[in-house]
Amino acid sequence: MKILVTGGAGFIGSNFIFHMLDTYKDYKIVCIDALTYAGNLTTLQNVMDNQNFKFIKGDITDRDFINQLFEDEMFDIIVNFAAESHVDRSIEDPSIFLKTNVLGTQVLLDASRKYNVKRYHQVSTDEVYGDLPLDQPNLFFMEDTPIHTSSPYSASKASADLLVQAYYRTFKLPITISRCSNNYGPYHFPEKLIPLIISRALNDENLPVYGTGENVRDWLYVEDHCIAIDKIIHNGRVGEVYNVGGHNERTNLEVVKTILHELDKPETLIKFVTDRAGHDMRYAIDPTKITNELGWEPTTTFEEGIKRTIKWYLENKEWWEDILSGDYQNYYEKMYVGR
Ligand code: NAD
Ligand code: DAU
Repeated sequence: MKILVTGGAGFIGSNFIFHMLDTYKDYKIVCIDALTYAGNLTTLQNVMDNQNFKFIKGDITDRDFINQLFEDEMFDIIVNFAAESHVDRSIEDPSIFLKTNVLGTQVLLDASRKYNVKRYHQVSTDEVYGDLPLDQPNLFFMEDTPIHTSSPYSASKASADLLVQAYYRTFKLPITISRCSNNYGPYHFPEKLIPLIISRALNDENLPVYGTGENVRDWLYVEDHCIAIDKIIHNGRVGEVYNVGGHNERTNLEVVKTILHELDKPETLIKFVTDRAGHDMRYAIDPTKITNELGWEPTTTFEEGIKRTIKWYLENKEWWEDILSGDYQNYYEKMYVGR
């Protein structure tokens, strides 16, 4: 089995590569990544010498590159993680989100058709469903919850999902889609809430909480997301969407206070700042479908996962300090150009 993982130098894609190489000793994994600001090749350092792994720097929006790659490698399965993923950046400048998340997906879909891949899997997000009100905790996102996006990021991800579904209906491309809630864990880029709070708290810097901090996210430890995708690409029904989430709802303020407590840092570091424009109130996934059909259940509670995550950030300071200083962006040039 040969699998193409796009965006594998990012947070979830890298964790997925580790999971797959550990789990399937006879699978070949090819990772392509454009190494944008969010891609970090040092993350993949430990697998670079693995005989079953190959990294190629490349952009999913580059049609010639993608077609040549598919021709050379003849993939069985495509798992598309590559995306612009940060909501705040999409509010600052939406253009690159449309290019990468929508047009890049189209390029991959076209190549998947042309080279007859057995499965194209789109890694999507619960943000395509918009948000839920805080005062109705019994409401959850189901797979048939209407698409109702808030940010340019979620609109671009929803557009990509619609395109993926259109390629299934019109061209019979064997696709699946997963829509997951907020992930956290090792190698999470420190612009996102949890790693931002951990790294800033460790440096005794103030901790920006948007608005009142009451917004709720449904946190899933990244390994559980990777296991869900593994199950979907092997046993998920073609043409289907699977919601992935673990009933680990927390307000942002609860998350920040938990981290402060674990690090023994004072709550006076918290600084309430102007709210995110269009800020979604609550995300909450109903994972019944993936549980019933594929036997997937989250294995890590938030209490356990956040402890593990904090420990990882304490033990891997160099990884995130290099990001904060910008050093990680020189790594590719230093290690790979001219090699
Ligand atoms: P990330 O920003 O950490 O990683 C994205 C990766 O994609 C980076 O390595 C980047 O270099 C690469 N990339 C960007 N543009 C590219 C292009 N044009 N060609 C090739 N590579 C490109 O993101 P993440 O948090 O790991 O998210 C991965 C996927 O999962 C995204 O599609 C995101 O929408 C989805 N998702 C994320 C979460 C979450 O909580 N982080 C939850 C649900 C779904
Ligand atoms: O739900 C899945 C989505 O989760 C993914 O599709 C996105 O790619 C991923 O980035 C994430 O989106 P969020 O916007 O929920 O994640 P973020 O870490 O940016 O913010 C989490 C919450 O914390 C959100 O309510 C905004 C708030 N926040 C965030 C930052 C960065 C703050 O209060 N302060 C901050 O500094």
